[in-house]
Amino acid sequence: MTGLFITLEGPEGAGKSTNRDYLAERLRAQGIEVVLTREPGGTLLAERIRDVLLAPADEPMNPDTELLLVFAARAQHLAEVIRPALARGAVVICDRFTDSTYAYQGGGRGLCLERIASLETFVQGDLRPDLTLLFDLPVAVGMARASARGRLDRFELEGHGFFDAVRSAFIRRAEAEPARYHLLDAAQPLAQVQQNIDALLPTLLERARG
Ligand SMILES: Nc1ncnc2c1ncn2[C@@H]1O[C@H](COP(=O)(O)OP(=O)(O)OP(=O)(O)O)[C@@H](O)[C@H]1O
Ligand SMILES: [Mg+2]
Repeated sequence: MTGLFITLEGPEGAGKSTNRDYLAERLRAQGIEVVLTREPGGTLLAERIRDVLLAPADEPMNPDTELLLVFAARAQHLAEVIRPALARGAVVICDRFTDSTYAYQGGGRGLCLERIASLETFVQGDLRPDLTLLFDLPVAVGMARASARGRLDRFELEGHGFFDAVRSAFIRRAEAEPARYHLLDAAQPLAQVQQNIDALLPTLLERARG
């Protein structure tokens, strides 16, 4: 039995975490086993790597260090949480996954996409999400939502140009592989975004039940 691997992607403040919980509730109400998790993180050790990645620090983090830490956390998360859950047939909903690596370390930091792809294969083998919901919104709107939440992490301290590159990278990936992505307009009121998620439920339930 193989479960269903759903990832939620998009920039800061797009509503990934809010709608992750919403989607999980809707699926659980139908008796589906849902494992909710996030990246970077998702296990005790991977969450410690997350802390290193997100904490603003006096020493600048080398972009390659950042990339390797992201994939180190992912290796742990896959081994401890994602693969076992999928093996027992659960739906895994993951708040950020490798598309964020392409968007932030590739688009934002300008790292070579082939290098990211080779790490992706090294760490994931052929495992890819079955479905990716991309929450897209104008950079300024996302930054305003994220700032309203309080202290900014190491990524949120980046400027407008960085997030423009992140957004474009996400959109390029969605356009290149339309069968896997579902693009959501995350600038809409939350109720409208959730209606759009509701519209996906019948298909998701069918796929979750195999
Ligand atoms: N469609 C929406 N309209 C208005 N506010 C929203 C909407 N979606 C989420 N929010 C609010 O914006 C803030 C950020 O949402 P959320 O934490 O879900 O974003 P996120 O994508 O998980 O961000 P991050 O990447 O920083 O974790 C929250 O306060 C949330 O209530
Ligand atoms: Mg979040």
